[in-house]
Amino acid sequence: MSDIQYDFGMVGLGTMGRALLLNMADHGFAVAGLDTDAGKVAALHSEGSGKPVKGFADAAEFVASIRKPRAIMMLVPAGAPVDSVIKTLVPHLEPGDFMIDGGNSYYRDTDRRAKELSTSGLGFIGMGVSGGEAGARRGPSMMPGGTTENYERIRPIVEAVAAKYDGEPCVALMGSGSAGHYVKTVHNGIEYGVMQLISEVFDVCQRSLGMSNAEIADAFAEWNDAELKSFLVQISVTVLRYKDEKTGGDLVDYISDKAKQKGTGKWTSQDAMDLGMPIPSIDVAVAAREMSGLKAERVEAAKVLPPTATAKPADKTAALADLRGALFTAMLICYSQGLALLKEASKEYGYGTNLETVAKVWRAGCIIRSEQLETIRAAYHANPDLANLLVDPEISKLILANEGSLRRAVTAAIQASVPVPSLSASIAYLDGYRSARLPANLIQGQRDLFGAHTYERLDAEGSFHTLWEKE
Ligand code: 6PG
Repeated sequence: MSDIQYDFGMVGLGTMGRALLLNMADHGFAVAGLDTDAGKVAALHSEGSGKPVKGFADAAEFVASIRKPRAIMMLVPAGAPVDSVIKTLVPHLEPGDFMIDGGNSYYRDTDRRAKELSTSGLGFIGMGVSGGEAGARRGPSMMPGGTTENYERIRPIVEAVAAKYDGEPCVALMGSGSAGHYVKTVHNGIEYGVMQLISEVFDVCQRSLGMSNAEIADAFAEWNDAELKSFLVQISVTVLRYKDEKTGGDLVDYISDKAKQKGTGKWTSQDAMDLGMPIPSIDVAVAAREMSGLKAERVEAAKVLPPTATAKPADKTAALADLRGALFTAMLICYSQGLALLKEASKEYGYGTNLETVAKVWRAGCIIRSEQLETIRAAYHANPDLANLLVDPEISKLILANEGSLRRAVTAAIQASVPVPSLSASIAYLDGYRSARLPANLIQGQRDLFGAHTYERLDAEGSFHTLWEKE
């Protein structure tokens, strides 16, 4: 038995785990950490010197040091490492204790783990944590899912360490079961979408408007001081302005144009397809990362298929203003898709997710935080059952006022052969969603002709089949 009983335990003392523990210690909680890497335990001790923090290398000693009922969080890579930590800890835990998985876990794994642990009387909370290392240290946004009873036990500590928006903590129960990890997955899907939208605008600025990195950074900085205030636009300014120590040039010019991914964007798209929910701005953002990976093929294709359309806008100032409005509109459309997916997932999986609470928790600390989220929160506050944000009276006004910019920016990019998949998918989503009639009647006719799949009529109930090709 150790000298003091710690309030909270953390397994995985990498940069995120240590940062979150130190944040908790700063708020007066006594915290214990476990890692098999002695270097990380030592790093916790030196960074946490003078604070109520203790690192352990032995699982039994670590568990024994924590006040019962124990709350132990894991911040380890998603997948097998989470199962391995659970396997190591369970023999030392007692009924009533519970574990929190703070990684980017697949939500179905979270459901499975919660079920397995409940047979031993152990609770489980799947909690998305966003904001990277700086967020973990100074205030992340956190998305826990599970029972109210378990959440109440960690609420004081997570509320203390969370980012604050107007004094309100950016953490709340996202719903039952795997709701926390589901919401975090969709957060990341939106993150993919917004990152792609910003990079498309960057690409048009350089290839079509001939702007330098510094000029683009200045434009982004101006937008970020106004209606486009957001973490992702803000960090794009930092990246674009950064000077390479090796060459003295702009570092961004020396970074390989192959984007990596760990899977959360893909899971968002996969699950949206399973649920029959269209989220095209996010789907194509995943595909754009895949396209970026085909570097060698792209280099060869660039020789065989030189662009035939290279029109440059006559009025560059107007074109840049359009890009600003395009980014604003497409970002709103991207959030709308993600939140419409969450609404459907909550219904299908019985999460009971409150979308206003989701928007609240995303307003600060997380990667997709932006000024738009307060508008989005207000929309759900006014109408919690909103089918889609696009039809909220305030948001529809913003869309109607700015969609011309998005349409013109996409048209100009296509005329210049600059790929803008996510901007294009966003305007197409808007046009599809606002179309009272779509051409799916022809698809139904085709399906019925070649496969007797039947169709429904607008003027009568029931299913119909037609012998389309009479001999
Ligand atoms: C966050 C981030 C974080 C991580 C992404 C990166 O919310 O803090 O989303 O979870 O940086 O998972 O994802 P990719 O490696 O797939 O781009």
